[in-house]
Amino acid sequence: MRDLPEAPPLAVEDLTISHRGRPILDGVSFALNRGELCGLIGANGSGKTTLLRAILGLARPDGGQIRFGGGRRGRIGYLPQKVHVDAYMPLRARDVVALGLDGHRIGLPLPSAQRQARVAAALDAVSAEGFADQRVGTLSGGQQQRVFIAHALVRAPDVLLLDEPLASLDPSIAAEIAALLRRISQQMGIAVLLSAHEVNTLVPVMDKVIYLANRHAVAGPVAEVIRSDVLSRLYGHHIDVLNVHGRILVVTAPDAGAGTAHVTLLP
Ligand SMILES: Nc1ncnc2c1ncn2[C@@H]1O[C@H](COP(=O)(O)OP(=O)(O)OP(=O)(O)O)[C@@H](O)[C@H]1O
Ligand SMILES: [Mg+2]
Repeated sequence: MRDLPEAPPLAVEDLTISHRGRPILDGVSFALNRGELCGLIGANGSGKTTLLRAILGLARPDGGQIRFGGGRRGRIGYLPQKVHVDAYMPLRARDVVALGLDGHRIGLPLPSAQRQARVAAALDAVSAEGFADQRVGTLSGGQQQRVFIAHALVRAPDVLLLDEPLASLDPSIAAEIAALLRRISQQMGIAVLLSAHEVNTLVPVMDKVIYLANRHAVAGPVAEVIRSDVLSRLYGHHIDVLNVHGRILVVTAPDAGAGTAHVTLLP
């Protein structure tokens, strides 16, 4: 008997969502394979968090389907957009990671040896052993982000969703975290979807991009999506994609018709 091709761990088909009758996303489709890292790019209010929450089952779609490889919503790791940590919160980095094991459910916890092994493996995956016993509030932003990623990873998810994990990090630290996520997706075979405003940090690590604008999305490899013709169709007006010193600039001139030179950089 011939093996059927493995279903992608996450497939979104023709998803439509509104908030209080106002459409937010319309006909969004994409699929993520194991070991793939995908950037979800869009401006403020374009619907990135809404899409991630729909995948988690926290926002109800008006139409379309969200399918998971195993049929039902399997293990999904999630790092929300803003995690506030008080400097005096009496939790070590290691404790924060351990909360990811059973903080979400009621029932008997895992035996402690197994717990410790899983926490140690997650800390190792993000290279955080060196500060695992420090209070989380005393860590730098980049170190905290590693700990939160370990928290989302500790249950060995099939799909890892991260909402703007690079925001508020210095460019060099953001690039480090992006490379770390790339390694995690490849080595652990996880489908990783992370949202961002800025595309350039992700270009070296992304297999795929989902670009959100105007309630719609285009998805595919960077070279097939971040193009003037494709983005102009998405936005419904002319968009330039410039390559300046190896960086991609997505530019619109909203007043071009009036002859003014206002230029807006898009994500
Ligand atoms: N619970 C809600 N009720 C009503 N409208 C909402 C709700 N949540 C989000 N919205 C609206 O949906 C739109 C998309 O919001 P969303 O937070 O998904 O965007 P985003 O791309 O994540 O933005 P940001 O980059 O600022 O995080 C916005 O116009 C927002 O005002
Ligand atoms: Mg958001």
